Amino acid sequence: MLGKLRSLSLSLAEEPRLPKKLSQWVQFGGQEVRDFWDRHPELRNKEWVECDYSEVAAALVGLQLSHPARQKTFLEWGCGFGVVAGTASLLGFDAVGIESEYFLVKEAVRIAVAYGVKNAEFWEGNFLPTGAEQFAEEEDPRVALKSEAKSAYAKYGRDIAEFGTVFAYPWPGEEHFLKSVFRNYAAADARLVLYRGPFQIEIYEKLPTESR
Ligand SMILES: C[S@@+](CC[C@H](N)C(=O)[O-])C[C@H]1O[C@@H](n2cnc3c(N)ncnc32)[C@H](O)[C@@H]1O
Repeated sequence: MLGKLRSLSLSLAEEPRLPKKLSQWVQFGGQEVRDFWDRHPELRNKEWVECDYSEVAAALVGLQLSHPARQKTFLEWGCGFGVVAGTASLLGFDAVGIESEYFLVKEAVRIAVAYGVKNAEFWEGNFLPTGAEQFAEEEDPRVALKSEAKSAYAKYGRDIAEFGTVFAYPWPGEEHFLKSVFRNYAAADARLVLYRGPFQIEIYEKLPTESR
């Protein structure tokens, strides 16, 4: 049986004011992403889209203030250039980003090192655990989810249940499947932060088993 989630509410300012170290990082990261695609338009596929890094940073700051995480471990599912994982690291989390495209993993490492982000690791592989497909319902679209890569967890000797916060920017419609995966594999009390589009960030907390 899948674990239950409760929604955590957060009010987001339209123009969030971030601590300087974070606003500098999201600007730096965003510029690196734009510069990379300018240099390598041939690598960009149609499904590539990045979240609004400032909005996500503001949400993570707000979440820490209103509902501080018990576990300061952070996992970005499909991290691309790793800007969100880097943000979590600057907020004091041990952060990991998993990405199936090796060229993006290399860029994530390069950008984090160039800025001096510590406590962020980037893993190549599938962020879906082996067997996760069973939680997809037939009507769940899985357009942008890459499933060919091997699941990353065994290779790096870690488990989803070790992460107190999981972040993803799902392709429209894929959020239901990702929520089911989180409901099955995450630890009780872990949070799922979903960027759904501008001004729409959803945050869930997995309830302990006895609350099911
Ligand atoms: C919409 S982009 C978001 C990137 C990043 N989170 C951001 O907001 O900038 C989704 C990313 O997930 C990666 N991805 C898709 N399916 C994946 C999978 N099953 N395992 C690992 N990475 C995946 C894609 O290659 C892409 O880089």
